[in-house]
Amino acid sequence: MAVRKASGAVKRRKIRVDLGDRSYPIQIGSGTLDEAGPAIAKATGASQVVIVTVPEVGKRYAARLTRSLKSAGLKVHRVVVPDGDSTKNLRELARLYDAFLEFGLDRSSAVVALGGGVVGDLAGFAAASYLRGIGFVQVPTTILSMVDASIGGKTAVNLKQGKNLVGAFYQPSLVWIDIATLRSLPARQRAAGMAEVIKAGAIWDARLFSKLEKNMKAALSLDPVALVPILQRACAIKAQIVSQDEREAGVRILLNFGHTLAHAVEKKLGYRKVLHGEAVAMGMVFAAKRSEELGFAPDGTRERLENLINLAGLPMALPCFPRRAYLSGLQVDKKKTDKHIRFVVLHKIGKADTVRLTPEEIYPA
Ligand SMILES: NC(=O)c1ccc[n+]([C@@H]2O[C@H](COP(=O)([O-])OP(=O)(O)OC[C@H]3O[C@@H](n4cnc5c(N)ncnc54)[C@H](O)[C@@H]3O)[C@@H](O)[C@H]2O)c1
Ligand SMILES: [Zn+2]
Repeated sequence: MAVRKASGAVKRRKIRVDLGDRSYPIQIGSGTLDEAGPAIAKATGASQVVIVTVPEVGKRYAARLTRSLKSAGLKVHRVVVPDGDSTKNLRELARLYDAFLEFGLDRSSAVVALGGGVVGDLAGFAAASYLRGIGFVQVPTTILSMVDASIGGKTAVNLKQGKNLVGAFYQPSLVWIDIATLRSLPARQRAAGMAEVIKAGAIWDARLFSKLEKNMKAALSLDPVALVPILQRACAIKAQIVSQDEREAGVRILLNFGHTLAHAVEKKLGYRKVLHGEAVAMGMVFAAKRSEELGFAPDGTRERLENLINLAGLPMALPCFPRRAYLSGLQVDKKKTDKHIRFVVLHKIGKADTVRLTPEEIYPA
């Protein structure tokens, strides 16, 4: 249980992402945005920073973050990019470079991404590439970006041919999480982010999974006593997996649980209709069902996962596309080697593995 401070908030907690000389802390707390400035100054050593954000998030939180950064003696600039995944494009990237040059950002400057995964991925790649790399800090404001996108150093923009096709592995020097920023996040987005937390429990940690079964409602209503330990554990799992396999040559592929089918659904339905986490929820139920059918997981595994996904208010059933639509969706999975796909299956709740299957084996008639 998290310890309540007199203010009703819970104590800030720290998780370390272990990557040798590129290691960095994730700081997670409730109501901590005003303390971010000094921590960012210390982590980056920067003398000036640019906050990159989207309108909805910027208007709520950028002023407070700016004040905190200024109190730490930093010169602060701001760039607001449009909302939505399509903002992760080369034109917006070029606009960021223009702004950075105009502000006179140099090697001793840093980029602070304030927002969800879209801002994190775009600003992260700008930080990775501008002057061959300047300081970078993530201040994620969605559940998805707190437990997933902000950790692990994947940054990217989309091309018209596909998502995340140009990018870099570029680790931030700090991830600063204030769960109080989630109060303005729409319920549907909260639930979608929770899909990645459920995934972390399903593939890695049966205890986290049980905790979610007991506390899902409290967590989704943002009770810090429930939510902080849950997000802390989910972040720690991602951190541990990334530390073991930064470049996705091994264990990091397990984070793809539920994603093979999810990507097919997202492509087919369009990214606007279905949120990533919703597609992942459907994909996880499908993968758990296949895990049982293929004899990897005991009966009841799918049912437990389904119940938890249902408790989070997430969808479970895949849309009724014809089989050939799923097969063609699976063909373009970029994680595939030859015609096989490394499909993530569960052995039980808390333990996952990969198995090489063809699209036809993943999605049998
Ligand atoms: N780098 C990685 O490892 C990684 C991992 C997973 C996903 N991603 C990427 O992350 C992106 C998805 O991230 P996301 O789900 O955070 O989407 P997002 O950044 O689009 O945010 C979702 C929506 O919530 C709004 N929002 C964000 N924070 C808010 C707040 N506190 N209050 C009110 N509104 C808020 C945003 O404006 C947006 O409309 C995708 O581009 C995906 O490719 C990257
Ligand atoms: Zn995902």
